[in-house]
Parts: sequence; C-alpha cells; structure tokens
Amino acid sequence: MDFQLTEEHLMIQKAARDFAVTELLPGVIERDEHQKFPAEQIKKLGELGFLGMMVSPEYGGAGLDTISYVLAMEEISKVDASASVVMSVNNSLVCWGLETFGTEEQKRKYLVPLAKGEIIGAFLLSEPEAGSDATSQRTTAEDKGDHYLVNGTKNWITNGNSASVYLVICQTHPEKGSKGINALIIEKNSPGVTVGAKENKLGIRGSDTHSIMFQDVKVPMENRIGEDGFGFKFAMKTLAGGRIGIASQALGIASGAYELALKYSKERKAFGKEICQHQAIQFKLADMATRIEASRLLCLKAAWEKDSHLDYTLSGSMAKVFASETAMWVTTEAVQVHGGYGFVKEYHVERLMRDAKITQIYEGTSEVQRIVISRSILGK
Ligand code: CAA
Ligand code: FAD
Repeated sequence: MDFQLTEEHLMIQKAARDFAVTELLPGVIERDEHQKFPAEQIKKLGELGFLGMMVSPEYGGAGLDTISYVLAMEEISKVDASASVVMSVNNSLVCWGLETFGTEEQKRKYLVPLAKGEIIGAFLLSEPEAGSDATSQRTTAEDKGDHYLVNGTKNWITNGNSASVYLVICQTHPEKGSKGINALIIEKNSPGVTVGAKENKLGIRGSDTHSIMFQDVKVPMENRIGEDGFGFKFAMKTLAGGRIGIASQALGIASGAYELALKYSKERKAFGKEICQHQAIQFKLADMATRIEASRLLCLKAAWEKDSHLDYTLSGSMAKVFASETAMWVTTEAVQVHGGYGFVKEYHVERLMRDAKITQIYEGTSEVQRIVISRSILGK
C-alpha cells in the first residue's frame, strides 16, 4: 500500500489548480448569477487534455489514470462545479462509455473529437417518469431494419445544449424489461431533435441543463453501442465510473469551502481574538478536515480499483454517498464560520453550498447509492 502521489499526479494536480485559479475563479460569481455556460473555459480545458483524461492517446486522449482524474476533478470543483460537471460527464460517461464499448468506427468518428475537447458530449438516461427507476424507459427506439426510429423525451440533461453528441438510452423491446434497452449515439443536429428550455437551478447554474425531445429521429444501426439489448448494462457500467467523478466533484466542493473557512477563521476577530482561537470553530474545522480526508481516501480507493481492473461499483457508490453528504455538511458549516459574510456572494461559500446539493441527487441519489451498497454487502 502506497499513499504517495507520483510526480506525474502532483503535476496534474497543480496544472488543474492553476487553471482553476487563473481561468475559472475570475468570472465564477457572474456566471453563477447569470447562468452563463463557461464556454471559453471549457474550450481551454479541452485544449489542455482535461476532457479526455483517461482516453488512450490513440484516440486523442491524455492516457492518464483515474487517480489523476480524481485529483483534477477535486481542484476544478473547488472553484467551479459548473465547469467540473461538464468535465465529469465528458470524461467518465461519454468518453469512457465509447472507448470501452464502442466499435472502432464509432471511436474514430466520435471519441477522437470528444477526447480532444473539440466537441462535448451528453449522457441521456433520465426521463420525466424514469429517474431513479431507470429501467422504466419510455423513450422508444423502434428497429426499422437499417435504422432505429427514436421517439420520446429525456429530462435534466447536462450539456444538453452545448453537446454535439448524445448517448441516448432507449427502449426497443419493452417485453424484455431492462434487457430490451439500447444505447444509441445520436447527433444533436439530427432532424427531429429539439432542445428544451434551460432549467433555472439552485446550484451549478453555469452548467446547461435541458430536456431533449426526439420525434421520429432516424438513427443508423451502426450507431448502437454493443449488442441489441445491452443498453441498460451499458448505462449501469458507465455510471459506476461516473459516480467516482461526481464523488470527486463533491470532494472538491467540500475542500474548496473548507479552505475558505480555514483562511477566514484566521482573519476574522471576535471577542478580542481570531475566531479560530475559539474551540467551537476549531472543532468545526477539525471535523471538516477529517470528513474531507475520508472522502478523498474513498475516491482514491475507487479510482485505484478502477485502474487495477477490479470491480469498483461498491467503492464508487460508497465514495459518492459519503463525499456528497460531506460536501453538503462542510459547505453549510463553512457558511456558518463566515457568519453574515457567508450569506453573500462575494465570499463564495454560499455558492458552494448551493452547488453541493446536486451531488446528492444526480448520477444516482444518495438513496440509490445505498441501494447499490446494501445489495452488494448483502450479496444480492
Ligand atoms: N453493472 C452491470 N450490470 C448492472 C449493474 C452494474 N453496475 N447494475 C445493474 N445491472 C444489471 C443487473 O444485473 C440486471 O441485469 P440482469 O437482469 O441480467 O441480472 C439489470 O441491470 C437490472 O438491474 P436491477 O434489477 O438492479 O435494476 P433496478 O430496477 O433494481 O435498478 C438501480 C437498480 C441501481 C436503482 C438503477 O436503476 C440506478 O442506478 N438508478 C439510478 C439512475 C441514475 O444513476 N441516473 C443517473 C443519470 S446520469 C446523470 O445523472 C448525469 C449527471 O447528472 C451529470
Ligand atoms: P426520483 O427518482 O423521482 O426520486 C425522488 C426521491 O425518491 C429521491 O429522494 C429518491 O432518492 C427517492 N427514491 C426513488 N426511488 C427510491 C427507492 N427505491 N428507495 C428509496 N428512495 C427512492 N440525468 C441524465 O440522464 N443525464 C444528465 O446529464 C443529468 N444531469 C442532471 C443535472 C441536474 C442539474 C439534475 C437536477 C439532474 C440531472 N440528471 C441527469 C437526472 C438525475 O440523474 C435524476 O434527477 C436522478 O437520478 C433522480 O431522479 P428523479 O429526479 O426522477 O427523482
């Protein structure tokens, strides 16, 4: 067992930290306020290789391990969780799904530009009536011989408007339940695809979340990922890795808020001394640091299991539920440490608190993670 990061890991961590501070921090409050997608910043992240971090260089990626990805996600999320969710979806849902299960043709056509960050992708599983209950897919992909005809609506899609490529989960054989589902690659500009209005959200307001409607969209057979009926397994396997990304996002939100609270506690004076001299504040900081370190270790353990080709479903869900609950708790306490100043935008912690909430909801709610964990430990 070795808890030491390599030189390469430290370099990537520093590159991500520098990027976050120089490129993301300056406009983050304004983008949050005006729900502005960080388009320029995402373009630069792509140029630096942060959108295809784990993809092999053969397909335009940076060829890094999942540990590097966790470290980079933490640093970017400390400052701008709206940017890090774009990074998470593109890396661990879209690129990983295509590289692992796509055909050579699909990889050349879609993965290469996605991994280089020339375009971005989205992952479309949730529907108005199928969120946690993801097997209840209503979007249909009718097999027409040489193509599928897709009809239905997907909800809450991250990168919904900015993505060029969608990975869409659809029902082809309803009588077969989860075994009748397919995953299709659909280009956003296909006739019959409509992007709904942007959602006005509590947090991650810079990310673009939309519903996407499909009306008689013709999708070539060669755009199906895997065998007929593989779509639900594709979604679950892809989400297992995605959850490591969101756990790292939660970790970053928590550590960003903690660093701000620590700094502020050394500056703000009350009753003749810095507030960090009061034991009540010291204990808050101690608990924040401990829970954050536990979250970080869970994220890194899941990443290590993935890099070691072990099953990381359990560790990824544990990391996600623990880190997201830590993020919610730490950010709330960070606002408390800041007193009234924590309640206004200039001090950043109120935004981090709002951003933390989504990590308990998307890519499987905390309740869903507990379903996955309990089934695993009970051997179901
Ligand atoms: N790997 C491989 N196969 C898996 C699997 C996994 N991790 N998990 C389940 N499966 C398989 C099962 O083995 C089963 O196949 P068999 O019938 O062949 O055994 C099939 O899938 C159906 O599984 P379940 O019976 O376990 O299905 P369920 O209806 O009980 O649901 C669930 C399980 C864990 C609750 C699942 O529905 C789920 O994860 N729901 C949450 C959905 C989710 O995470 N959505 C996120 C959307 S993307 C997103 O949110 C992105 C973003 O915000 C940025
Ligand atoms: P529901 O499933 O209706 O759940 C409501 C409540 O009931 C939750 O607390 C849930 O935990 C609980 N619950 C449900 N079933 C059970 C059970 N069996 N046991 C115990 N409790 C249960 N989806 C995508 O496909 N792609 C995306 O890019 C994407 N991005 C998103 C971005 C944002 C900002 C948001 C808000 C959502 C996004 N989602 C995306 C959707 C997200 O994954 C779903 O919102 C999430 O999976 C929960 O589904 P739901 O909203 O339908 O809630």
